[in-house]
Amino acid sequence: MKLPAHRTGLPGSVITFYIVGFQPRLQGGALSRLSRKISLYLNLNLDLNLPLGFMKFKTIEWKGDRARLLDQRRLPLEVRYFDCRDASSVAQAIRNMAIRGAPAIGVAAAMGIALAAKKIRLSQPEAFRRNLEGVCQEMKQTRPTAVNLSWAVNRMERLLDQVHSYGVKRMKEMLEEEALRIFKQDLEINQKIGENGKTLIKGGDGVLTHCNAGGLATAGFGTAVGVIHAAWAEGKRFRVFVDETRPLLQGSRLTAWELAQEKIPTTVLTDNMAGWLMKKGHIHLVLVGADRIALNGDTANKIGTYGLAILSKWHNIPFYVAAPTSTLDLSLASGKEIPIEERSPEEVTHWGGKRITPKGIKAFNPAFDVTPHSLIQGIVTEKGIVREPFYKNLKKMFTK
Ligand code: MRU
Repeated sequence: MKLPAHRTGLPGSVITFYIVGFQPRLQGGALSRLSRKISLYLNLNLDLNLPLGFMKFKTIEWKGDRARLLDQRRLPLEVRYFDCRDASSVAQAIRNMAIRGAPAIGVAAAMGIALAAKKIRLSQPEAFRRNLEGVCQEMKQTRPTAVNLSWAVNRMERLLDQVHSYGVKRMKEMLEEEALRIFKQDLEINQKIGENGKTLIKGGDGVLTHCNAGGLATAGFGTAVGVIHAAWAEGKRFRVFVDETRPLLQGSRLTAWELAQEKIPTTVLTDNMAGWLMKKGHIHLVLVGADRIALNGDTANKIGTYGLAILSKWHNIPFYVAAPTSTLDLSLASGKEIPIEERSPEEVTHWGGKRITPKGIKAFNPAFDVTPHSLIQGIVTEKGIVREPFYKNLKKMFTK
């Protein structure tokens, strides 16, 4: 069996050697373990067809007995990976934002559950299920706004419900496979979002984005930044403006770092500059990600998105959201019901461990805001671009 090198990211001969050369010498358990590893590897790499030279970093990686995460708190000054060997260290990494971005924390939570399952020593299906159920609940509580997190955990829970039929040993394997499937599907979905959205960008445009909705916020490629990657890969030449995104600077630290790797011309601006740049005619399109989208199209995203949407409307600039369908929460009629995470005021009053406001001053720190659907031109998903009336068209997309 020889796979075309461009489909796997590895030279075809390496793969041929791995499968044909080694496998026959192994016996019994070792053979089945190896073939499972190979099939997981191939499953992850087939059909991705990523543009050449793309993704010089790995946001999250499965290593069998641990998840390897790129520590986003240290970027761009330091590129450092660290390993999580159990669910609580994954939960901690989500809470402290070593990994962040709606789809990425969903993948991390699923891997955390798979790790927890491996560690459980109970052989009774019901005891195993109850134990892991506690881990699922802990994962769901790490960050409340991004619905991708509970979406991924729900997928793991649904599988867990079948433990009585499959038994504990098989269930552990199935949970690992499901976590890797969530990872792989996110990569594929992001590429589709890129393809569907790239027509929005024209040569010579100034594209403004907020926060980081790139490869760092997903399994790879990104949503809003994925659209930018796809348009760039097609040969369009344009300029990207990145809001620095206070208080944690996901724009200037993370999005700018990602775009710099592809040498896409990028200019960082502080969050209060967007209006003036729009007025001066530098911005032709605004593209952002999302953490949760209600049935009517109201969209929660990083704090500051709402203000940008109002500015875009005033200046007649198209404002688009890019998100996978796993970000849709059709159980919520409108954005009013979206829970908004409040983070520590210290993220505002301190920087790099140092106080930057006078002692005793209070700070407000909602991590997200909700942009009303009336300000959104369209939502780019892996299934196409959805437009008003969102409540009808989003529903339709799900019944297709
Ligand atoms: O607090 P963060 O950094 O997790 O917020 C991330 C965002 O708001 C992103 O725009 C959103 O999750 C979309 S990521 C594809």
